[in-house]
Amino acid sequence: MTDLPSVTAAAAEAPVSELQGLAVQEVEQNITPWEVEGAEVNGVKQVIDYNRLMKQFGTVKIDEALLERFKNVTGHEPHLFLRRGIFFSHRDLEAILSRHEQGKPFYLYTGRGPSRGHMHIGHMLPFIFCKWLQDVFDVPLVVQLTDDEKYLYKNDLTVDQVYEYSLNTVREIAAIGFKPEKTFIFSNMGYMGGAFYRNVLKISRCITFSTARSSFGYKESDHIGKIHFPSIQAAPALCSTFPTIFGNRTDVPCLIPCGIDQDPYFRLTRDVTKNLKHPKPSLIHSKFLPALQGDTSKMSSSVDNSAIFMNDTAAMIKKKINSFAFSGGRNTLEEHREFGGNPDVDVPYRYLEHFLDDDQELADLAGGYRKGEITTGQMKVRCIQVLQAYIAAFQEREKAITTADIEAFMNPSYPRSFASLATKQA
Ligand code: TRP
Repeated sequence: MTDLPSVTAAAAEAPVSELQGLAVQEVEQNITPWEVEGAEVNGVKQVIDYNRLMKQFGTVKIDEALLERFKNVTGHEPHLFLRRGIFFSHRDLEAILSRHEQGKPFYLYTGRGPSRGHMHIGHMLPFIFCKWLQDVFDVPLVVQLTDDEKYLYKNDLTVDQVYEYSLNTVREIAAIGFKPEKTFIFSNMGYMGGAFYRNVLKISRCITFSTARSSFGYKESDHIGKIHFPSIQAAPALCSTFPTIFGNRTDVPCLIPCGIDQDPYFRLTRDVTKNLKHPKPSLIHSKFLPALQGDTSKMSSSVDNSAIFMNDTAAMIKKKINSFAFSGGRNTLEEHREFGGNPDVDVPYRYLEHFLDDDQELADLAGGYRKGEITTGQMKVRCIQVLQAYIAAFQEREKAITTADIEAFMNPSYPRSFASLATKQA
């Protein structure tokens, strides 16, 4: 067990305003590709401040006008992740919409650091979203598995282990519902070479150590593998990394759905694409799925009982929500009925925001909770049902994935339904 629950409980009970008049000791929030920690005020953990993060990173909020444009251009109601501000920030998303309007192609690029064990529901978000975007736009998706990054950042793993994790990860990504005709999933350790490696080299020559250090905070004592790695995560943002999909073209941009913590990689990428005569990638960023213990940290595979995993049984899901999920309800039922609860910090409600599609039901749950008509127990029951159903369906699909399916996804030459992309230079 961790000591997270007590920390987050304290955060909820001691808003900053109550600390006025005291000498305030503040530790800034720390969001990097490897660490996600809320700020600390007088030793009390705060929820992650996404507005501050957008400002710091220089990204743009997805507003109503942009969602309206999205709807007009695609003819689709925006996905619940867009409607509810879960994918909340972007860079140059309009450029992608304009291309689509003009009938010009783009592709989707996302990735995942494969790990021991199974993915958790937080890991699903970019993939669920990519699946939906792929259905809406009918575009290729490339998925980078950064087994190399895992190896470089975890001293206790061997190269064989991380490659094995990649293969398991492909199975799980496939179970989200992707098709190999439209989706290329590659392990860096497997696919590097040829066009991919050439782009890695070109990119690495455009990034100085001092630029990389100011983006990622490297120290002198860091090994050089870490310092080189960003050029490897950048390369799939150039379409020429995938000649079996894009032929000789250099002009097809990508849209990268990712957690906002990955933005530093692509800020760097956007700075070098012009030199390399490729279009800048566009980005669409998500917030983090809260840990079971609450919104001051993200769900993490390495923190016991902070996560709901894709291989959890129905009974485990129930137990985790009931025993560990931070509640925005009152201490007693009487108080809850009288004063109402706070769904915004209530973890079962927050998970429903991500996995319950029905806007009306969600609004009723939030409203009823605030009024004290819906109890903590009822909110938990609904959350458990929704997650159990989602995860059971996922597990069914996963069982059906064969070794041949995995090979098809990972085969750069698998016949994909975008053959015309390779020939036309728009
Ligand atoms: N570094 C990411 C991780 O550890 C994996 C990744 C690679 C990625 N390329 C990406 C994530 C592109 C989002 C978009 O999870």
